[in-house]
Amino acid sequence: MNHSIRQLSHSDQSILWEMLYQSLHVAEGEQAFAREVIYSPELRRYVEGWGRPGDLGFAATEKSGGEVVGAAWLRMFTEDEPGYGYVNDHTPELGMAVMPHQRGQGVGSSLLIHLLESAATVYYSVSLSVSADNPAVRLYKRVGFEQVSINGGSLTMIKSLQNVGTERQRAT
Ligand SMILES: CC(C)(COP(=O)(O)OP(=O)(O)OC[C@H]1O[C@@H](n2cnc3c(N)ncnc32)[C@H](O)[C@@H]1OP(=O)(O)O)[C@@H](O)C(=O)NCCC(=O)NCCS
Repeated sequence: MNHSIRQLSHSDQSILWEMLYQSLHVAEGEQAFAREVIYSPELRRYVEGWGRPGDLGFAATEKSGGEVVGAAWLRMFTEDEPGYGYVNDHTPELGMAVMPHQRGQGVGSSLLIHLLESAATVYYSVSLSVSADNPAVRLYKRVGFEQVSINGGSLTMIKSLQNVGTERQRAT
């Protein structure tokens, strides 16, 4: 592995603004989003004020140089100000991205497994929203997320964290 994983602190908000932008799925042949889109009310709530109680996230950094290549983070939302994958007030929602030139090399998988193992000590489950045509759906299913609903072209998926420690033991 040529990257390390470290926990995100409250001073890492700028990393998450970039990762929020990188997490926006652009379907094949479509144009990239304008940068400003991340400051819309529905998206900014994934990052704004990072470091509040319940926030938990990790960044992957290159071992040589320390450049951030990806991040995975959890945040709790409310019914009044939900995330796209909101299910209830005690299930945090996942955001994640890997920089384009680093995708498909295992960084996202190791970030996600690391985050889920850490989250299992705090939460019962984790949710997410993903476009049905996003290849990331395969990754999420592989680590145990299950579809609970579909809204337009987006799937809401949930992973129970009850057996995360034992899953890891079985896999090693
Ligand atoms: C999704 C993402 C975080 C995965 O990280 P990664 O380092 O590429 O993932 P890994 O190399 O560990 O695992 C590969 C899996 O990631 C997914 N993946 C790979 N390239 C991808 C891409 N360009 N876009 C989306 N998912 C991709 C696939 O599920 C792939 O599984 P497969 O090998 O069965 O096809 C990363 O690809 C990404 O940032 N994609 C664009 C933004 C995005 O879609 N974020 C998720 C929003 S819900």
